[in-house]
Formats: sequence, structure tokens, C-alpha cells
Amino acid sequence: MCGIVGYVGKRPALPILLEGLKRLEYRGYDSAGIAVITPRGELALDKAVGKLRALEGSTRARALPGTIGIGHTRWATHGKPSQVNAHPHTDGEGRVAVIHNGIVENYLELKRELAAQGRRFVSETDTEVLPHLIAGFMAQGVGLAEAVRATLGRIRGAHAIVALSPQEPGVIVAARLGHAGAVVIGYGEGEMFVSSDLPALLPHTRRIAVLGNGEVATVTAAGASYCDSQGRAVVKEPQTSSLDPLSAAKGGYKHFMLKEISEQPEVVLDSLRGRVLFDPPTILADQEVPFTAAEARRLRRAVLVGMGTSLHAAMVGRLMLEQIAGLPAEVDNASELRYRDPPLDRQDLVVAVTQSGETVDTLAAMVNAKQKGARQLAICNVPGSQATQVAEGTISIRAGLEIGVASTKTFVGSMLALYLLAIHLGRLRGTVDPPRLQELVRDLAPLPAAMGRLLERQDEYRALAQRFSSSEHFLFLGRGIQHPIAMEGALKLKEVSYIHAEGYAAGEMKHGPIALIDRSLPVVAIAVRDALYDKMLSNIFEVKARDGIVIALGTEGDQELGERADHVIWVPPASPWLAPLLTVVPLQCLAYEIAVRRGCDVDQPRNLAKTVTVE
Ligand code: AGP
Repeated sequence: MCGIVGYVGKRPALPILLEGLKRLEYRGYDSAGIAVITPRGELALDKAVGKLRALEGSTRARALPGTIGIGHTRWATHGKPSQVNAHPHTDGEGRVAVIHNGIVENYLELKRELAAQGRRFVSETDTEVLPHLIAGFMAQGVGLAEAVRATLGRIRGAHAIVALSPQEPGVIVAARLGHAGAVVIGYGEGEMFVSSDLPALLPHTRRIAVLGNGEVATVTAAGASYCDSQGRAVVKEPQTSSLDPLSAAKGGYKHFMLKEISEQPEVVLDSLRGRVLFDPPTILADQEVPFTAAEARRLRRAVLVGMGTSLHAAMVGRLMLEQIAGLPAEVDNASELRYRDPPLDRQDLVVAVTQSGETVDTLAAMVNAKQKGARQLAICNVPGSQATQVAEGTISIRAGLEIGVASTKTFVGSMLALYLLAIHLGRLRGTVDPPRLQELVRDLAPLPAAMGRLLERQDEYRALAQRFSSSEHFLFLGRGIQHPIAMEGALKLKEVSYIHAEGYAAGEMKHGPIALIDRSLPVVAIAVRDALYDKMLSNIFEVKARDGIVIALGTEGDQELGERADHVIWVPPASPWLAPLLTVVPLQCLAYEIAVRRGCDVDQPRNLAKTVTVE
């Protein structure tokens, strides 16, 4: 996730911005930049590739004057890491500077429209369309804030945007659309701050306001005013942020689990940073996957392994490797694989999925495979953990610290890492040609915003929880790549609410589970529009014919499903391999809401540990 800082007040902006960016370094970045408005009313920028010291060396030399400015640390997605692609971006005529978090999904069409109007572009980024749009609206006579708000109406995706203009030298405008990271406004004495991170503000102030979806903030040294996406004034009183590390870490959420569920769009963006370029479509996985094309082509089989939620991610990854990379794949629970002691050799690729990197059974299976000479990768969230030391290479989940015992954002991060691995191996093995690569990469762009739409519907999940929190049994059904999601939905529910829940391949219904169906049993059926939709619909008919209750997950607009199921949770459309990253979100939220209603200890459920380091 990129880092954002802004300052307007009476002190020199440059040192405050550089210090703020240093506090954001933990997010990872490949370039950084700063823009200030000088006392002469000019826009002055400086940007540098690499670590902040490159920027510090540069701007200090130039000693950018001014008491208002914005700063940014960037992970490249559109356009390689370079000085010209670093933020801030401008309209080319010194009228507007913008820093940005998110993906402008429709940037290509906007870029063509603006170029046709004579706008000149210098970078490869999607972000650069923003200052041109904003300058265009300002040229029509509106102010900076109104121009930013109008720009929100032209762009698709999830965004955090901060802009400034010499035409309004004492004003910073910040805006948020969807879930592309927070935008926090800090209130000082005669000075104001903007950041993507609460910790970057705490050295200066504890009085903060957090932008809501679609909100725009106009920030001056004297304070801030807010409006919504329709331009209607919004009253936001600054809250005093607790310095208590635990509640500050919870970021205002009641539980870590809900906070971490809500962070999933950012996890997707973080996973893509520095690994995926949208134009030209490119997967940059070489540094994490140490296989040559010849070695990749020699692979005979993948063996995926994990426990619990990570096993469910491995089950999804298996289908991705088979269907995208053309690599035969099998998956096994680590505690079984380690004792099954299968024949393995250098033509086998073991992929160990373990967010902690310390699960004892998974480590044992990895060591066993290593002794047999198998190639080995880890999908892991903890750099330096044992799994990363046993594997030849690690694809980092990049989900940040996950404190809730129930794995949520690391599950989505694991599936995304497996998707990138499948594409990378497919490129090396020749099963993914350039057109296919373009399609697979393009499908990633709408993911953060689609997840954000699912996260905006907590009331719906809460209503379902109210209806079903007293049920003592649940059945979750899915087919194909949604079968592991049915398993994961059941695991989430049983973990945090202590309700007995089973996840099943829906095709198994007639082989036993159908005996369970009656009017007391809620059945969650994942029936999105994919190749197995009709089969899932038949399963729903079977359940309804026996007075069962069906809570379906369906693709937005599917009227037929709406007529068949008792309750439908609508999910945005997505490619077959990325759909699981969406369907799991409502199931996580439903489990959370039911557990809260049942008064369970959501973040530390009974009998469970976050990491199982003992057998
Ligand atoms: C999932 O919510 C549980 N916390 C548990 O099943 C977990 O996924 C399992 O213990 C594996 O942990 P790992 O990913 O750290 O290896």
C-alpha cells in the first residue's frame, strides 16, 4: 500500500513531510516524492527512485521552501519504478499536484480522452490522469475541492487522493472512494496534517478525523471542512485518538477480526505492488520464484500443503496451478502428508501455505519434502519464519500483522499469492501467452473495489446473524473452486461462534448430507455464475424440496437465484479464479456477526491458538 502525508501550517513543510514518509517506510515502497507550494506561490516537486535517503539528499539540496506540501511513497503497479512514475503527478502546467493510493480501473479510456483534448502525459501511471481531470474542472471555474469531487465521479475503482494547487495556496484537498487505504486528517494548533496512517500523525496530534467512503476534506492551517460525494456538507468533529496501543492498533474497530476483514482490499493492493504491472501487463515474480523456464517446464507435479484455513487456500491454489499453469497438482493436509511419506523428487514442486510460517505439521512436511529433493516454495506472511528458511523461495502474503486468531486477510493474501504464482509458472511453461496474460492481469484491477462493496454491507450480514445466531448446526456447500470456500466458511463459523458447521462439496449431498436437511438447518450455498452454477441450483432445489433454509451467495443480478433461495448475498462478478477472494468476504462477516451476537471472544476463541507450534 502506498504511503500518504500532507502538511499545512506555519512550519516548513519539507522536514515534516520527510519525517512522515519515514514513518511509513514499513509499508514497503520503490520510490518517493514531495510537492510543496513555495512562498512565491509556485508548485515545486522532487521525486526519487529507491529509499527515502535519495529523496532527502535531493530535496535537502534544493531546500524546498514553503509551509504546505504533500508526500508519497509508492509501490509500482502501473509503470515500472522510476522517477517519472513516482508521485506526486501534475497536470504538466504547474496547476495541480496529486498523490494517490488505488487503481484507476478506467484510466486508459480517460487517458485517450484527455490526450485527444491535447493533454500531454509523461509517465506510464494510471494516477497521472487525476491532475489532468482536476485541472480541467478547475479551468471551468470550480475550486480545487469541487474539482476533486467531480473527478471522483469520473474514475472507477477504490482511491485515496490528496491534491494541492498554487491557485489555492493554503489548501490541501483529500478524498476517499471505496477501500484503498485510510485517509486520516490530523488537527494541530494552527496547523493540520493528512496521512494514510494514524501512527504517522501521532507525533504531532491525537485529534483526528477519518474520511468515509466518497468524502472530500478541504484542509487549511485553521482546520478542515468536509462534504460527501454529492457535495453536501458533512459535519465531522475530530476525535481524540487513544494512545493505548491496543485500541490504536484496532483503528476504531470493535475487534481485530473485523479490522482485518476490512483491510482485505488493501492487502490485495499491497500484494500487487511491485509484482504486477497493468500496462504493459506483467508479473514480476522472478525475485520470489527462483525457477528458470527450463526448470519450470521440467516440473511434473505440484503438491500443495497446509493446515486449517491455509489448507483451504492450498485447495484453491491447486485449481489455479492446474488450470492456469497446466501443472498437475494435488493438495493434502500437512499432518497427513508428513506421515503419508509420499515419493517426491526434483520434478515435484511442494508449495507450503502457512501464514505464520511456524505450524509444526506444515514445517515437518516441508522438511520431509526437502530431504527427498523436491523443489519447494512457501506462501507466508512472516518474513524470517521457519517456513521461509526451509523453502527455496517465498511469496510474501504482505497482509501485515494479523492479530485475530481466525485467519481472514492472510487467507485472501494466500489465494492472491497463489494466483500470481500460477500466472508466473504459466508464463515460464508456455501455457500463458501474452493475450492470456493480459486477461489474467486485467481481471485483478476491479478486485479491491469489488471487495469494498462487499464490506459496505455489514448491516445485511448483521441481519442474517440476528436471524440465524441461535442455529446449532450449519451446512456450507460449494463446487469446484468454491468448494474450499464452503470449507472455509464453515471453519470461520465454528472457530469464532462455536456453532457446529460442515463444509461440503455440493456433489456429495446425495451421498449423505442430504439426510441432515430440515427446516432447522441453514444451508449456505455458494452459487455464483460459474461453470457449475446449474449444478449448484439443483442442490438448492434439493434443499428447498426438504424444507431446508437456503442462504445463497449469488452473482449480482441473478434473478433466478433470487427466486429460489430464502436469502441471497449478492457478490460482484469476477473471473473464476478470483471469485473465491470475493465469496469468502461475506462468509467471514457472517461468522463474525454471529459470534458477536453469541457473546463469543471473537479475537481469541476458546481452545484456539493463532499458531499451532506443538503437535
Ligand atoms: C484459521 O482461522 C485458523 N487460525 C487455523 O486453522 C490456521 O489457518 C492454521 O492453524 C494454519 O496456520 P498457518 O497458516 O499459520 O500455518
